[in-house]
Amino acid sequence: MATHPAITATGIKQPLTVINVPTRTPQGREVQVRVEWVPAAPLDVYQVDAGLMAEFPQCLGDSGAGTVVATGPEVQHLSTGDRVFGFFFHNAHEKGQQVYITAPEHLFGKVGPRHGSLRGCGDLPTNFCTSFYTLSDKLQLDLPWPRPASFTPSDVDRPILIWGAGSSVGHFAVQILKYWGYTNVLVTASSKHHEKLKAYGARHAFDYRDPNIVASITSCISDYVGSGNGGSLRVFDTITSKHSSLAPIAKIATLPGSIVAAVLPVVINPASDPAGLQLSADLAAEAEWAPGVQVHPVISYAYEANEFLRDHLQPDIMATLLAQGAIEPNKIRIVDGDSLLERATRAMEIMRSGTVSGERLVWRVWTAAEFPEY
Ligand SMILES: NC(=O)c1ccc[n+]([C@@H]2O[C@H](COP(=O)([O-])OP(=O)(O)OC[C@H]3O[C@@H](n4cnc5c(N)ncnc54)[C@H](OP(=O)(O)O)[C@@H]3O)[C@@H](O)[C@H]2O)c1
Repeated sequence: MATHPAITATGIKQPLTVINVPTRTPQGREVQVRVEWVPAAPLDVYQVDAGLMAEFPQCLGDSGAGTVVATGPEVQHLSTGDRVFGFFFHNAHEKGQQVYITAPEHLFGKVGPRHGSLRGCGDLPTNFCTSFYTLSDKLQLDLPWPRPASFTPSDVDRPILIWGAGSSVGHFAVQILKYWGYTNVLVTASSKHHEKLKAYGARHAFDYRDPNIVASITSCISDYVGSGNGGSLRVFDTITSKHSSLAPIAKIATLPGSIVAAVLPVVINPASDPAGLQLSADLAAEAEWAPGVQVHPVISYAYEANEFLRDHLQPDIMATLLAQGAIEPNKIRIVDGDSLLERATRAMEIMRSGTVSGERLVWRVWTAAEFPEY
């Protein structure tokens, strides 16, 4: 049986290791991709330090970019040699931090000459999908695809708050809203990101560390909320920290009919806290929500339940917006190391430290020098 190396977590807080895992031959509409770049993601830390959605030994990563090396007999849109990026998550064969993944073709977008570097594309899929799915499905915003010529959303001036727009998920959300024409987008982020976020389409930017942030945002939106000028508030919490995002949002989003969507898990304590990482899955219980406010947890793996998004989000919407320059990937920082294990371990340590700000860590999985046999 053919095998290949995979970064694997063997238990909670255990050092990462490399093991050889079976290489799945693509069936039906599956493609086999040699993974060249992966992003480091907060989920890596949640899995290794808290066992979130982990069954040890657990291979890590749900996003990446690489080259198609084999296709199943029913594949329609991809060919051997295509460069692709993808968000893949069904099973162990689809984890990104391994030399080969085998996954259905709808989980990939094709990287063309106008998409920029493969390493830059590797950052995109998970967080773009999360943002698009949340804005369209959970917050019920008007994002038709393809966007009709001269399109204006029916609630064009509805106030929409993106909490944590400095994050990878958040910065895609702001750009998506601009593309579809929403005009009253408010964001929270460190001040150093405000200029860039306004260029992406944010109308107002607030520093989430400001002790008066609840009053500042409430005052800003009072002109719009409930005035008939766009109606109630929509909030996308891209951070979901019990203390530093959910608590203030619960005080801001109080008008009945408002909708809050927040990515899971709820972070009670981050990994950088001396008390250690502590997570919760109970969004409703982790803040005092006002009556009449809808609160939706987001697990982006669920986007495939929407058949249109399943078929179009990665191969079509994401790939097209990136090629058009309507969506800009995050600034990237390359994590180097002499071996696959060294790169993965370094990336994990930086993610744990909580120092990533306005950038994405990316690192190489397959390299010709380290793995010439693949
Ligand atoms: N449930 C799902 O399906 C799903 C999918 C994707 C991601 N996620 C989760 O979404 C979260 C964000 O992921 P990511 O990859 O986008 O993270 P990321 O880019 O690594 O986020 C880092 C950013 O978070 C910002 N930040 C930290 N605390 C903040 C706070 N209290 N308020 C506002 N901003 C804050 C910082 O902004 P500044 O630089 O402005 O300080 C920093 O730039 C993670 O918890 C991840 O696990 C969940």
